[in-house]
Order: sequence, then C-alpha cells, then structure tokens
Amino acid sequence: MNTKQTKTHLDRRDFLKLGLLTTAAAITASCSLHAADSPTDSSSTPASNLPVKYVAKKFDNLLGGAIKGLSDNQLKAHFTLYENYVKAINSTEEKVRKFDINSGDKGAYRELQLAQTFSLGGAVLHELYFGNLGATDKEPKGTLKKMVDRDWGSVSNFIGHLKLNGLAMRGWSLAAYNFRTGKIGVYGLDQHHEMVPNMVYPILALDVYEHAYMIDYSIDRGKYIDAFVLNLNWRPVEERLERALGINFGPIATA
Ligand SMILES: [Fe+2]
Repeated sequence: MNTKQTKTHLDRRDFLKLGLLTTAAAITASCSLHAADSPTDSSSTPASNLPVKYVAKKFDNLLGGAIKGLSDNQLKAHFTLYENYVKAINSTEEKVRKFDINSGDKGAYRELQLAQTFSLGGAVLHELYFGNLGATDKEPKGTLKKMVDRDWGSVSNFIGHLKLNGLAMRGWSLAAYNFRTGKIGVYGLDQHHEMVPNMVYPILALDVYEHAYMIDYSIDRGKYIDAFVLNLNWRPVEERLERALGINFGPIATA
C-alpha cells in the first residue's frame, strides 16, 4: 500500500463525514468477485449494449503432474464443473434480462436470482481458485507479506486460519482485502452464493466442496487442504491485492 493511500484510508473523521458507504458501492465491491480474475475483459466499457458473455478460462497448465497431490482426473472433473457454471451464468443472466416483469411472478423471479448469484459465484470463485494454484511463487512477498504479517502476525498463522476455515466451512475458504478495515480478512462461505462478504476484494480462494478432492482424497479434506497449501501460487494473490489497493472506496473505518 502506498503512503498516500494508507493516510487516506486511516482518516476516521473523513470516513464519518462521508457516512455509510452507499449500497451501490457495496454492490460494486461484491461484484469485485467477478473483477478479481475476470473471464471477460471488464477493464473497459463495452462498445455496445449487447450482453457480455462470460468465457471459460483454460487451466491446462495445472495438468500433467504440475500440481503435486491433485491428479489430472480430479482436476479435469473440476474443470468441467467450472465450465458448467460459466454456461449457467450466461444463460441465467439472459433469462433475467428477458424476464417479463409485467407477469409479477415473484416466485419465478426469485428462483432466477438465486440461480444467477449461485452460478456467478461458481464461475468466479473457481477462476480464483484455479488461478492461485501452481506454486510458481511459494512464499508471499512485498506488500502482501507485510500486510499478512501486520494483520495476522505471521504467514503460518494466516495459513492456519485458512486451513481451519477450510475444515469448518462447506464451500470456500477465502482471503480478501477488506475496504472498510484496510486489512486482509479470512472469510468462509457455505455455498457460492451464501455468506458472500460485502466490501471486500477476494485475493485467495480455497475450494473445500467435496467435488474438489473426493477423487484423490475420498473424505480426507485435511490432506487435500495440505496439498492445496503446498501448491499455492502467491503471485496471483499478490497481484489481486495490488489491484484491490488501487481501488478507492474511501477512507477506512478505524477505532
Ligand atoms: Fe469446486
């Protein structure tokens, strides 16, 4: 974090003057789940008003023994599941846009909304997860290392929280930059669309759904999580954090 940003974020009086951040801003921050490792180019305004389609990313670089402890069978099955989420978010967003609002069918609309958030989470979170596998950078560095040490005492303590979180939750163990506190937080999700935190920017994703490890580890989630940590690539985590720090959501709330 640069000095200017730190100073701006830590000014509580300015934050209080601003009052609560708007709902719109909160929604935008939640959408950062999408922007963190976007399947499409979301960095520029679309040239037309036609719907932007999500495109499934390829993670073939993880195959062929690149990930110690995760077989090709396990990874390929997981890729297929992720690709189905990408298909689902494309079709569901289309259905929402075309929904006949004059029908007044709240039940049908609710189902669509649930499906939309679920499939969006399924697509984006898997991209974050596959994107931070690969063990190119085996240790956190720079700003990331400093912030982890500051916020969690040590990297090993931070990893310990991620691991326990992974054992405790049913879907995801995430680390995310919190725009309100200016710290890196650890968050657990029971499903792609359940317990999704607001005003945070995810920087690290650990999938703990059974489908992520059943082929290789049966019901031994602990061993799978150990393998994940050994194969964690800190470089994209660092890049996501830098991206989050570049987003100005206003001053941080400090006590
Ligand atoms: Fe998964």
